[in-house]
Amino acid sequence: MAYTIHDLEDYFKLYRRSIRTPRKFWGEIADNFSWNQKWDNVLDFNMTEAKFSWFEGGKLNITENAIDRHLVNRSKKTAILFEPNDPNEKAQHITYEELHLRVCKMANVLKEQGITKGDRVCIYLPMIPELAISVLACARIGAIHSVVFAGFSASAIAARILDSDCKLVITADGGFRGNKTIDLKSIVDEALVKCPCVDKVLLVKRTNTPINFQDGRDYWMEELLENSSINNTPEIMDAEDTLFILYTSGSTGKPKGMVHTTAGYMVYTGYTFKNVFQYQEQDIFWCTADIGWITGHSYILYGALLNGATTVLFEGVPSYPDFGRFWEIIDKHKITHLYTAPTAIRSLAKENIEWVEKYNLSSLKILGSVGEPINEEAWHWYDNHVGKKKCPIVDTWWQTETGGILISPLAGITPTKPTYATLPIPGVQPLLMDDKGNEIEGEQVTGNLCINFPWPGIARTIWGDHERYIDTYFKAYPGKYFTGDGAFRDEVGYYRITGRVDDVVIVSGHNLGTAPIEDAINEHPAVAESALVGFPHEIKGNALYGFIILKESGENRDHNNLRQEINKLISDHIGPIAKLDKIQFVDGLPKTRSGKIMRRILRKISEGDFSNFGDTSTLLNPEIVDEIVKGKV
Ligand code: WTA
Repeated sequence: MAYTIHDLEDYFKLYRRSIRTPRKFWGEIADNFSWNQKWDNVLDFNMTEAKFSWFEGGKLNITENAIDRHLVNRSKKTAILFEPNDPNEKAQHITYEELHLRVCKMANVLKEQGITKGDRVCIYLPMIPELAISVLACARIGAIHSVVFAGFSASAIAARILDSDCKLVITADGGFRGNKTIDLKSIVDEALVKCPCVDKVLLVKRTNTPINFQDGRDYWMEELLENSSINNTPEIMDAEDTLFILYTSGSTGKPKGMVHTTAGYMVYTGYTFKNVFQYQEQDIFWCTADIGWITGHSYILYGALLNGATTVLFEGVPSYPDFGRFWEIIDKHKITHLYTAPTAIRSLAKENIEWVEKYNLSSLKILGSVGEPINEEAWHWYDNHVGKKKCPIVDTWWQTETGGILISPLAGITPTKPTYATLPIPGVQPLLMDDKGNEIEGEQVTGNLCINFPWPGIARTIWGDHERYIDTYFKAYPGKYFTGDGAFRDEVGYYRITGRVDDVVIVSGHNLGTAPIEDAINEHPAVAESALVGFPHEIKGNALYGFIILKESGENRDHNNLRQEINKLISDHIGPIAKLDKIQFVDGLPKTRSGKIMRRILRKISEGDFSNFGDTSTLLNPEIVDEIVKGKV
């Protein structure tokens, strides 16, 4: 059966087949899911117009595949294993049967509140079971979920709600994160002042924080659930109906609402979960991402549940109550798969090794990494101290836009090589391009990473702005999807992702576009202009360095106060994750004659590399470079 890849020979055979006859290949994979009506046509596409249609004519509901289908054989199996922030609070084992019941009830609540197929629902919740249940309840009734990470600020939420015209928001009174309580409801209240499209807020009680209850708009979820029926027939969706919107930072302007549709996303996340992680029925899978990001959508929720897995939902942080928390959780729940980010690995690796050694990690079988390039040191630490050299590490490369993993070892099958994402998933055709638009063939070469052919999980558009979708991903290399990443291909065809080649910086695994942060900085009354770049950071992977020109009115101000005010502005506009590590006040920025900032130079300065700035002949003000170097912070 094509659904499961058993060994390397199998992989190569299936890979070749997936390229020769992609429609036949994906049709066979899709046969492993349950459909209300089979598709007429596996794939129609046009790379120039960025039009993709997978499994056209097919009818289905993804929650029927992720939940109902398992009620026959797995009703008493734990679907979601919830580990609360406070280790003294009891973990919850939510079985498939209970998940079904709770999703049906919540789906009915949404319907009673007037939500129907195609409506957008914003979900701003901490990592608690209600987050998973809300997402699935939306999918069940055909409402489009737009999950906003619960670390974003009021303005960031408002921008996302307005962009996709959400009618309803699901949030909580507050959320626990380590020893902090975050007042989510008051953040939502602030956001909603600017959002006339939202007429209802459903509130989950989590922290018992006093809130400002707005009659007629706010409702306690608990009360609504009490009276709601347990019977819910899922909405039958067309294959290409939108399942969700998830915002990701762009290198320019406002966030991009990436749109994923129903059938292709289901087939792709289900297939990659099974094969990359070589998932087996008794496994306990823990992905430490937040559901507010694509990794959480695809591998805490959909991919895992589609395979009938037990998936762990952890509310807290790796450092609370101490640095042993991850390892304690693995020991306690006998976790078999740990899927986390290099930034988490690095931050835990710098703590005393006794934190790891204190716990029994022998249940672990497979380790995963995602979100940014993993450096060699972190890779080996993960391999030696967590995997005890017996767990394959899958370094999975993918993006919000790709829906699921595109390049990764298959656990235990593909020989791994530290820092390499290795080989493409069947159906995925990576290639490297040079800046002039030519393909770079051969071995041991570096270039811009593109994908030559659609896969079922590819995003279909940017919500409300298809032109931007085409411009961002399909214009640079006509006929190809451009990832925005650079990559190296070695002598056996393994890929190593080298990092972003655009103005997106990955800080602690979070994608941050520099432009929206610059916009926030420029709102400060003392700021004339600013330019941001990323520079290497031991734990975060990258951190942000801001070069800021002050207006005359700001010149006499205390620089440290200004730095704090600027970071506060960034926190308010985007969220604390986007704060700058370093701020240097400068008299000018290196600009070309056409007025473009030469970020390449700023990047070198931020890294402390003053050796060779390359060709600076097109600079309007070359003398500024020396001045900036002298003032480096
Ligand atoms: C980066 C996260 C190197 C990459 C799933 C990509 C990686 C961006 C890896 C997408 C990896 C993700 N090795 N780099 N294994 N995984 N990236 O949209 O730059 O949050 O373009 O999706 O993260 O981040 P996003």
